[in-house]
Amino acid sequence: MTASTLPESDLIDLQFAPNGRLRHLLSLRGLSADQLTEILDRADHFTDSSIAAVCRNNNLQGKSVANLFFESSTRTRASFELAAKRVGADVINLNIGQSSQTKGETILDTVRTLQAMQVSIFVIRSAEIGVQAMVARDVHEGVNVVNAGEANVSHPTQGLLDLLTIRRHKTCFDQLIVTIVGDIAHSRVAHSAVEGLTTMGVGELRLVSPPSLAPDPATMPSAIIMTDVAAGISGADVVMALRIQKERFAEEDGIPDEEGYYKEYGVTHERLKNAAADAIVMHPGPMNRGVEIESAVADGPASVITNQVSNGVAVRMAVLETVSGCDA
Ligand code: CP
Repeated sequence: MTASTLPESDLIDLQFAPNGRLRHLLSLRGLSADQLTEILDRADHFTDSSIAAVCRNNNLQGKSVANLFFESSTRTRASFELAAKRVGADVINLNIGQSSQTKGETILDTVRTLQAMQVSIFVIRSAEIGVQAMVARDVHEGVNVVNAGEANVSHPTQGLLDLLTIRRHKTCFDQLIVTIVGDIAHSRVAHSAVEGLTTMGVGELRLVSPPSLAPDPATMPSAIIMTDVAAGISGADVVMALRIQKERFAEEDGIPDEEGYYKEYGVTHERLKNAAADAIVMHPGPMNRGVEIESAVADGPASVITNQVSNGVAVRMAVLETVSGCDA
């Protein structure tokens, strides 16, 4: 059994210090609506343009953050680096391809080596399930782990930045219909979005995909699982498009080709005519224009995709402060 497939209660216990403080952010599971709201409020403060064009502080001065990305990334890695610097921390971005990982060093030995250099926050992305939890169980007291994307199971800071983006545009979760269209089965973004939106009491959550990319309903009992994209988008206040994550499956049987997928499931201007008049369109990136989303929609007036990216820096500043206890 890997760490992330531990019983849910064990994973949740691992996230919290004995005094109840969030010590590691491994998943949005186990965080209450109040705890999520506290992080979102803190992030909102960092996006307040009345404070400064770029909000900074020195709350993590003297702390060192290591970005360990065992899988590729543009947005998450860059925004964790900016976030750490904007709260005053020192940052190292380990180049995994040129690290001693290539000589057979284990992940735990890499972490212990950096810990010996007084790195106290590890931001980890992995294609393998359970790496973040394994590290969280190994590190010294006072050291924190943040999940920056774990296989197809969890991407909690993406979930938080999606919640923040929705909240900034729509205010009240319980009145909303949120529709996620795409490869739900292989999407850590969808998993964290569902966890976060469910905790925040979203009005209706629809997950639309071809049958071959549908999730196991037992893993997302709060959502309505659909295959009809027109019905899924009808009346939706928020439409999130997801990429087909071909890197996470070998067998492409039953998966439409790109042209066929766009025709059947692409989030297009035409399809959005049946969404709410003020619907917003989201995408976590990276986007495949003309596959899961029409380019004119991605760049159009309903799109909040660049807002998601901006909010990602603010959310990660808030998360780094929260887990390190430097949020006072
Ligand atoms: N949304 C997201 O995780 O993007 P990256 O893979 O570029 O970090």
